[in-house]
Amino acid sequence: MATMQLQDILFSQGFGTRRVCAGLVQQGLVAVAGVTCDDPAMEFIAEGLRFSVQGVDWEYHEKAYLMLHKPAGYECSQKPSTYPSIYTLLPAPIRQRGGGAAAGVQAVGRLDQDTTGLLLLSDDGKFIHRMSSPKHHVPKVYEVRAKHPVDDAQIRKLLAGVVLDDDPRPVRAAACEKSGENDLSLTLTEGKYHQVKRMIAAVGNRVEDVGGLHRARIGSLSLPDDLKPGQWRWLTAADLASIAARG
Ligand code: URA
Repeated sequence: MATMQLQDILFSQGFGTRRVCAGLVQQGLVAVAGVTCDDPAMEFIAEGLRFSVQGVDWEYHEKAYLMLHKPAGYECSQKPSTYPSIYTLLPAPIRQRGGGAAAGVQAVGRLDQDTTGLLLLSDDGKFIHRMSSPKHHVPKVYEVRAKHPVDDAQIRKLLAGVVLDDDPRPVRAAACEKSGENDLSLTLTEGKYHQVKRMIAAVGNRVEDVGGLHRARIGSLSLPDDLKPGQWRWLTAADLASIAARG
C-alpha cells in the first residue's frame, strides 16, 4: 500500500497549507496511534490511519462521505442569506479539505432552511452527481405534518400526479401514505425546488410552518435515531456499499 508523508496526510485532510501542516507536526501537536510524531516527512500508510491533531482524534479518508442531521434554521448554502450555513456545523478540516476554490464537502441537494433531517455531504463529485441526478431516481422519504387533516383523496392525487406551476408535466409521489390525522410520508425520486411543499399545496393542504417537513431516508440510508439535530458522522463502508448496491 502506498505511503504518504505525515504533512501531506494532514494537508489532504484539510488541516491547512503544507507549511501550516508541517508546523503542526514540528510543534508536537500531531500524534499517530497515540505517539507524538514531530517529523513532517515521516511516512505512513494513509488509508485508515488514525491520528490526532491538538488532541482531537481523526481518521484518514481519501474521499469524504458524511451524513448530517440538518436542524431547522440553517441554510444549505456556502453563502447563506438569512440563517447560518449548515457548513458551520462541520469541523473546519472537513470544510477545507482539498484546498482551493471548490474546497471541502458539498451537500447532495438542498433542504429548505425550515426542513430537518438527513443530508448527505461529500467531496466526491461523481457521488454527488449520482445521488442527486433525477436520472438515477434515488428515492427520498419525507415525513410531512400538514396544517389540515390528510384525506384519501389527497393521497390518491399525490400518487396519481399533480401539476406544479413551473412545468406542465405532472410530478407524482413514488409512494405516499397517511401516518396520522395530519401526517403523511411521501417518497420522491426527483428534487424540484420546494417540491414537497408545492405538491402538498397542489392537493389543497399545506405543510405546517414549524416542524412540518423532515427527510427520514435517502435511498438505502435512514437517519439514525442517535444522530441528533446538528450532529454528523462519517458514512461507514457498509453505508457506502448499500448505497452503491441500492441507491
Ligand atoms: N421539498 C421541499 O418543499 N422542501 C425541502 O426542503 C425538501 C423537499
